[in-house]
Amino acid sequence: MTTPAIRTDALVKTYGSIRALDGLDLEVRTGEIFGFLGPNGAGKTTTIRLLVDLIRPDSGAVSVLGLDPRSDGVASRRRVGYLAGDFVVDGRQTAGELLTYIGHVRGGVDPPRIDALIERLDLDPSRKIKALSRGNRQKIGVIQAFMGDPELLILDEPTSGLDPLLQREFEAMAKQVAAEGRTVFMSSHIMGEVQRLADRVGMIHEGRLTSVVGVDELRKAASRKVEVVFSDVVSADEFVGIAGVRDVAIDGRTLTCRLDGVADDLTKVISQHRVVMLTAEEPDIEELFFERYASSEGRDAP
Ligand SMILES: Nc1ncnc2c1ncn2[C@@H]1O[C@H](COP(=O)(O)OP(=O)(O)OP(=O)(O)O)[C@@H](O)[C@H]1O
Ligand SMILES: [Mg+2]
Repeated sequence: MTTPAIRTDALVKTYGSIRALDGLDLEVRTGEIFGFLGPNGAGKTTTIRLLVDLIRPDSGAVSVLGLDPRSDGVASRRRVGYLAGDFVVDGRQTAGELLTYIGHVRGGVDPPRIDALIERLDLDPSRKIKALSRGNRQKIGVIQAFMGDPELLILDEPTSGLDPLLQREFEAMAKQVAAEGRTVFMSSHIMGEVQRLADRVGMIHEGRLTSVVGVDELRKAASRKVEVVFSDVVSADEFVGIAGVRDVAIDGRTLTCRLDGVADDLTKVISQHRVVMLTAEEPDIEELFFERYASSEGRDAP
């Protein structure tokens, strides 16, 4: 069996009377993008800080790339790219100068590699950091995490502050990492982002991992709205009772319905008619995820 990229066993972290992590068992596979989702205060940042040895657990074990981030700190830091949730930079130096400096400290990141990322995220390297907007500072954080092409990226809300275009760019960068067999572990509040990006989603609630689910699996199970325009008038009776089909409505030559899971039975009935147009919406997996997997405790009622 291959060593997981990240593994925690019964991890507990308390702050006085607050139990930030309450026996967290987590496993992230090599080469996957794992989305770590949970409400405010669930324990995402605490988990991430433990993984990069910024804080220490009360009990339980952590393994990152098969190493103990505490005793093998130097080795593990060299192989991990980390972006803090509260990544702060300030100063008179320019964004380019800072990134070059960080590259040196890390033991030599190729300047062309830094330049490519600067260009990709549309950061102006000549602007002084103190004059940059929040989103532009966040770009520096993202670049410094990615620039050493680490085996594992541990990212705490990496897209916070980035505009939608840059969020997409970030997603492409993360996918590229996974395509190269490297691993991305990232926290987020936004299911929409995670579903586009992640292979698996883990839900943390009150310091425990309440579920882990594959996004493909969710997508297959989720229901989607289907609309078919026929060249002739059809009858609802033909479509009622087909496996996976519900909410059948006919308006003249147009059928609308919801389809759960596999489309085979529905398409066979549809194909008995002449079809002018067929559309199937992207499934709303967010709804399904929260219905099936997210604990309702502590969440606001919808
Ligand atoms: N340094 C600290 N001192 C005291 N309590 C803390 C400290 N850091 C975190 N906590 C508490 O631990 C719990 C988990 O916090 P954490 O920051 O890990 O949550 P999070 O999931 O990252 O939340 P968010 O989505 O708001 O970023 C919270 O109750 C928080 O108040
Ligand atoms: Mg946090």
